[in-house]
Amino acid sequence: MGTLTTSFDPASPEAAAMSQLFIITLMICAVIFAAVVGLIAYSLMRFRWREGASEAEPSQIAGNRKVEIVWTLIPFLIVVLLFSLTARTMSSSDPPPAPKPDLIVVGHQWWWEADYPQSGVIAANEIHIPVGRPLCLELRSADVLHEFWVVQLARKMTTVPGHPNYIWLRADHPGTYLGVCSEYCGTQHAWMRFLVIAEEASTFEQWQQAQLKPAAVPAEASAAHGLALIKQMTCANCHAIQGTGVDAHVGPDLTHFAGRRELGAGVAENTAVNVRRWLADPHALKPGVNMPNFKFSDAELTQLVAYLETLK
Ligand code: CUA
Repeated sequence: MGTLTTSFDPASPEAAAMSQLFIITLMICAVIFAAVVGLIAYSLMRFRWREGASEAEPSQIAGNRKVEIVWTLIPFLIVVLLFSLTARTMSSSDPPPAPKPDLIVVGHQWWWEADYPQSGVIAANEIHIPVGRPLCLELRSADVLHEFWVVQLARKMTTVPGHPNYIWLRADHPGTYLGVCSEYCGTQHAWMRFLVIAEEASTFEQWQQAQLKPAAVPAEASAAHGLALIKQMTCANCHAIQGTGVDAHVGPDLTHFAGRRELGAGVAENTAVNVRRWLADPHALKPGVNMPNFKFSDAELTQLVAYLETLK
């Protein structure tokens, strides 16, 4: 899910600074590698044993001050260069946090919650941001260590239980950027993905306004039965659906569930077919997930899917 992204394709000044440092380091290493391999290859060819050649060894050298100074000085200068480039990149890619964060991101086993304190929006696994504007993120964890990483946009940062960390997030171009958890955090660490969706300020504002609306009242009987089931079953002990009285904050907020592109933090596309598969047995799609298998009947699955699909 999401497009494959690499640090060679940065989309923010912070990511560009890190990408440059990586490329410079890679080039220095490539030159050293080529020199070492080249010298070994030369020595193998030049001094190899030949039929009928004299048994004399090549001339042996024991100690040469000039050579020793050169081969100490060159690595020393490389280390000094890498140190100063790294220090420069660290300061440009990690400015001090703002007094108040624009966004609070919470790592959970195994999904991401995104709270917008200024507007009150609560999203899951999809972080919308206005393009070109740096946002200060406060990173928290609900359980264990996770690591927030959007390779094209910002540095990595660990989410630590009980200790908020901060990073800046910005995208220079509108687009969808893949984010991952990059700290092993349990069975489904690999499926703890998220999308950062950078959009023009007006589109971002529209999105925020739409997210603030409560869930639509289901018009169809099937969907209404779905909502009744959610209230009656233990779904309501973990999830929230604004405007319905279902208001727990253990699992993802489902108020605008149908508007999200992916299911289970990236494990499948958010389609009616996949939602049904998910509800029928969450562990078949995402083994170890905290959502239990409710053993719903086919009729119940149809009602639940009908209702969840209304949550645009
Ligand atoms: Cu969360 Cu790995």
